[in-house]
Amino acid sequence: MAEALVFGGSGQIGVPVRARLHAQGWHVHALSRQAHEDNDGTTWLRGDFADMPPLPPRVDAIFSLGPLDRFAAWFAASRIDAPRVVAFGSTSLETKRDSRDPCERDLVRRLGDAERSLFEAAAARGAHATLLRPTLVYGAGGDRTLTRIARLAGRAGFFVLPRGANGLRQPVHVDDLADAALAVLDRPATFGRGYALPGGEALAYREMVARTLAALDPPPRLREVPAPLFALALSAARRLGKLQELGDAAVARMREDLVFDAEPARRDFGYAPRAFAPAREMFGL
Ligand SMILES: NC(=O)c1ccc[n+]([C@@H]2O[C@H](COP(=O)([O-])OP(=O)(O)OC[C@H]3O[C@@H](n4cnc5c(N)ncnc54)[C@H](OP(=O)(O)O)[C@@H]3O)[C@@H](O)[C@H]2O)c1
Repeated sequence: MAEALVFGGSGQIGVPVRARLHAQGWHVHALSRQAHEDNDGTTWLRGDFADMPPLPPRVDAIFSLGPLDRFAAWFAASRIDAPRVVAFGSTSLETKRDSRDPCERDLVRRLGDAERSLFEAAAARGAHATLLRPTLVYGAGGDRTLTRIARLAGRAGFFVLPRGANGLRQPVHVDDLADAALAVLDRPATFGRGYALPGGEALAYREMVARTLAALDPPPRLREVPAPLFALALSAARRLGKLQELGDAAVARMREDLVFDAEPARRDFGYAPRAFAPAREMFGL
C-alpha cells in the first residue's frame, strides 16, 4: 500500500486531499496540532513543525497543505526519504509583491524563500517537488474571503462594497485543488515546477460577491457606496476592533485584475477547474 505523509490534513484543502488518497488506496500519516481519532486510512500524528513527533522513515509522497515556509524549513533539515513532494503555496507571491502593506511584502518574501528552499532541498536528495499556487480558495466554509463575506452578510442582511470593485478574480474550489494535488503525482512534466491554479472563471470582484450573496437564503442585499465613504466606514469599524484583517491594500486590490493562466496546468496534468457557482453549504451555512 502506498504511504503518504500529509501536513495540513485537517485544513480545507487537506480534508479532500486525504479523502482522495483514501479512495485511491493510500495510507495517510497526517500531522496536526490537535488530537484526532484515526479513521478510514489516516493515522494522525500530534505535533507541530517546531515539535515533530516520530515520523515514518520513508513514504511514497509528502503533501504540504499548511504553512509553506514552516514546511520548507522542516523539509530542508529532515532526513525523510520521499521521492515525491507536492506543496501548496499561493498566487499571493505575485499579487502582493508590490503591496503597500509591509506585512504582505514580508509574506511574499517568505513564500519566495520557501519555494526556492523546497526545490533546492528536493533536488539535492533526488526527490521531485511540485508547487501548486491557488488563487482565492472557497468551497469548504473555511476561507477568509467568501465565507467571511457570506457570514457577515447573512447576519447583517446586507453587504457593502466600495464602487469600482471591478478587478477580476478567479475563485477556485477546494475539490479542484485536491484533484490537482493527486493529478500531478505521476506526471514527470510537473517535476521541479510550480503552477498557478486559478478557478475556471474570471469575474469582477463585485460579481463574485453578488453571486455569493445570491446563494444565501434569504439573499442579503449588495450595497455599493462611494470609495471615500467606504474608507471612512472601514476605519470606524477598525477603531471598534472589527474588520482588522481588511487592510487598505486589500481594499485597493478590489479594483485590480488578479488573473492567472491555467493553461500550463491544463497541459501538464489536465487541470479543468469549475466555473464559480456558489451554494450556501460551501460557506458552512
Ligand atoms: N485559503 C486560501 O484562500 C488560500 C489561497 C492560496 C493558497 N492557500 C494555501 O493553500 C494551503 C492550504 O490552505 P488551507 O486554506 O486549506 O489551510 P487551512 O484550512 O487554513 O488549514 C491549515 C492547515 O495547516 C495546518 N497547520 C497550520 N499551522 C501549523 C503548524 N505550525 N504546524 C503544523 N500544521 C500546521 C493546520 O493543522 P492543525 O490546525 O490541524 O494543526 C491545518 O490543517 C496553504 O499553503 C495556504 O497558504 C490558501
